[in-house]
Amino acid sequence: MSKLDFPVRAVILAAGQGKRMKSSKPKVLHEVLGSTIIERLIASVGTAGVEHAHLVIGHGAEQVESYLESRKPDLPYSTHLQEPQLGTGHALMQVVPALSGFKGCLFVTVGDEPLLRTETIEELCRQHKESGSVVTVLSTIVPDAKNYGRIVRDGAGNVVKIVEDREACDAEKAIHEINSAIYCFSWPEIEEGLTGLKNDNNQKEYYLTDLVFWAREKGLKLSAMIAEDYREVAGINSRLELSEVWRHLRDRTNTRLALESGVTIVDPASTWIAPEVRIGQDSVVYPNTTITGDVEIGPDCVIGPGAVIRGKVRIGGGSSVIQSVVLDSVLGANCKVGPFAHVREGNDVGDGVRVGNFVELKKCTIGNKTNVSHLSYVGDTKIGSHANIGAGTITANYDHLTKTKSSTVIGDGASTGSNSVIVAPVEIGDEAVVAAGSVVTRPVPSGALAVGRARQENKLGWSDRRKGK
Ligand code: UD1
Ligand code: CA
Repeated sequence: MSKLDFPVRAVILAAGQGKRMKSSKPKVLHEVLGSTIIERLIASVGTAGVEHAHLVIGHGAEQVESYLESRKPDLPYSTHLQEPQLGTGHALMQVVPALSGFKGCLFVTVGDEPLLRTETIEELCRQHKESGSVVTVLSTIVPDAKNYGRIVRDGAGNVVKIVEDREACDAEKAIHEINSAIYCFSWPEIEEGLTGLKNDNNQKEYYLTDLVFWAREKGLKLSAMIAEDYREVAGINSRLELSEVWRHLRDRTNTRLALESGVTIVDPASTWIAPEVRIGQDSVVYPNTTITGDVEIGPDCVIGPGAVIRGKVRIGGGSSVIQSVVLDSVLGANCKVGPFAHVREGNDVGDGVRVGNFVELKKCTIGNKTNVSHLSYVGDTKIGSHANIGAGTITANYDHLTKTKSSTVIGDGASTGSNSVIVAPVEIGDEAVVAAGSVVTRPVPSGALAVGRARQENKLGWSDRRKGK
């Protein structure tokens, strides 16, 4: 479906405390598979093509604001403080001043349903517009209506009102069609109804749901769209529901990767891949793997078992990452990482590179076909192509006294012997060789052999002398 091509603004109601989460942070800052709830919501309304997001915040408002400032979402947004929090209707009222002059669709959602798909947002807004409705509510049919608001329809099937669980009679409690608390409203047509909401209910709250009844009484066009999969609009009220939402997002993503991208996911239950991750055809993901962030993995890769890939990562086709961690880095095609490698942030690795067991890389640029096969720490280093970094090579890049880091350059075809320490800043030329056990503190010219260790001395007959023979 193409992006929305008429004026739509989004409102995200997120001022509530989320008491049942038993958390010191606001509900929208909890993570769902690699992203916070608020970030997921902003991303999905943004992709749908809304022009602006109004975020109503209250509990933990400063935390939410400083989080958003640090994340810098692409979509223009504004925050609106609701203080005190007097209900969902009262929450939407806080946005009214910012809507002056706006004419169009107001897409309203709550801050605890992060799985709503862009397609559903688009469909709801389109249906709202095409049907000429003033209020369109997104409902769904659930096996267990818990304490959701119920959709009450008349004999002809038209929506009459929404009753909150607390106020519902037995007949209403038996209804399985519930309010997702996601709506599309026509602005400014509903302004009068919104500002006129009353709090004459059990909770003494201004219920947004009462707008539905208002529209019906006014004879305005009112419609409902039923979301096919109720799990898409499942609300998070407790930690248990939070983990259900994690699982649902995992399953949805694994299914899509398997059916649409041609990826084998050997054990979907232990494989946690964020929905924004792209993986190429014929790649295989083995159990106990987590992949989150802006990650793109090429075709024919082998990922896992036990891989953790996170942040902005690019991995070329035919590469493997086994029992290893890869963060914010680029790896070329046909690389072999692991087992037990730690590729930290800021690496740019070429094709056919081997990063073996117990190797840590940080901020390195590595040319094609270079090996760092065993037990090494390499940081702030530029290595050419076809180089060989011997087992146990360490780049000493950090001066603890001055708290400064220095860089190392290792040329094409160079090799470092086992257990050598390269003390930065220093440069090792092309085809140069560092002898095993060396401490390199001065530049090594191209093609030279650097031996930076005490010369071996053999004391003949020493063993017999020690025994007094
Ligand atoms: C609400 C709906 C209910 C629906 C359910 C779906 C109302 C009255 N009820 O109930 O019909 O089935 O969602 O999940 O609308 N919020 C504010 N300010 C407030 C109160 C709430 O911003 O003063 C925000 C909360 O942060 C939350 C959202 O609105 O993100 C929903 O509030 P919540 O208390 O969870 O409503 P429910 O009881 O779930
Ligand atoms: Ca809720």
